[in-house]
Amino acid sequence: MTMDSFALESRYSIPTYAQIPVVVVRGEGCRVFDEKGVAYLDYWGGHAVALTGHCHPRVVAAIREQAGTLLFYSNVVFNDTRARAMAALSAAMPKGMSRAFLCNSGSEANESAIKTARRTTGRREVISMQGGFHGRTMGSLSATPLGHYLSDYAPGVPDHRFLPFGDLDALRAAVTERTAAVMFEPIQSMGGVATATDEYVRGVRAICDAVGALLIFDEIQTGLGRTGVMWYGDAAGVVPDIITTAKGLASGVPIGAMLAKDEISAKVKEGDQGTTFGGGPLACAAMEATLAVIRDERLAENAAARGREIAGAVMKIPGVTGVRGRGLLLGIVLDRDAKGVVKALREKHRIISGTTSDANVLRILPPLVLSAAEVSEFVAGLTDVMAAPR
Ligand SMILES: Cc1ncc(COP(=O)(O)O)c(C=O)c1O
Repeated sequence: MTMDSFALESRYSIPTYAQIPVVVVRGEGCRVFDEKGVAYLDYWGGHAVALTGHCHPRVVAAIREQAGTLLFYSNVVFNDTRARAMAALSAAMPKGMSRAFLCNSGSEANESAIKTARRTTGRREVISMQGGFHGRTMGSLSATPLGHYLSDYAPGVPDHRFLPFGDLDALRAAVTERTAAVMFEPIQSMGGVATATDEYVRGVRAICDAVGALLIFDEIQTGLGRTGVMWYGDAAGVVPDIITTAKGLASGVPIGAMLAKDEISAKVKEGDQGTTFGGGPLACAAMEATLAVIRDERLAENAAARGREIAGAVMKIPGVTGVRGRGLLLGIVLDRDAKGVVKALREKHRIISGTTSDANVLRILPPLVLSAAEVSEFVAGLTDVMAAPR
């Protein structure tokens, strides 16, 4: 019963989450269902995780099969599923990359990236961008100047610096031969969906190359086809030195990965990284199936097409003043606080969406299997909510 789950979870969790009053018990495609069977259209994608939709049959079948075969063994042994899944991940990487370190979350992938940059360059300084979010573990948090996240736990790890996002002149002045890495989210999702231009991406690459600093893209939200290309740099013809990915990589089974250019991987030594659960067979089975679905169902192309439809349609809604982002990571800029609109969309139209650190931005991160009909449903809902008297 709804109240039971709500009351039990509220009673026993350490109260760190601002939760919406919905008890989700089942999911299918772009919909989730509560205990009474009420359907919600999920424009939040289980927090950008349900890339292939909820419970994609190919992913579920792979998980079921693996669960009955071998749930877990660590990297101390080789494993057939891990081997296949890593080959599939390698095939999906940009040119010049072929290896990955598998871990369990986005934060851990970013920790690994920062450590790899320090270790392989012999330098310490890491530059990240104001408005960026990289995780809540102490290292990734130290690269996260957004809002209260870092300041609540200050001081962070030494040798992190922050610059304005999108400002090539500031970056050029700051990056030196002491810089191990420049790290950023190509779209600052939580930070108001601020979006890097292709010109900025190319400019940062050139600035890093001039001094031998590594370029790290946190693609935990932007990667795997969400912005209409597999990796954000694909659109600009840029390959970073390291890409971090997580979220939807295994469609909801916890996983993270650090992908590195081959010349970086070649410098990593035995014992430099490690984790018990990373690369577990269950997560790997889910990752292999997820990557196959992204490829076979052409989800990057679908994200581009559906994203274009949404952006075009919402711009015609009175009260919408702009659209940020790419593909299916969009920030719809409103002439009012987005919080009330998110609530009304949920309560009146059973559509789940979210906010950002910029109060006027409504953020959407739907599954990449989104259909044209599900676009129309969202646009109709938003049109109705925006027309309601305030
Ligand atoms: C861009 C980005 N980086 C890193 C993280 C941290 O990932 P995780 O919560 O899996 O540790 C997130 C999570 O929201 C994220 O959006």
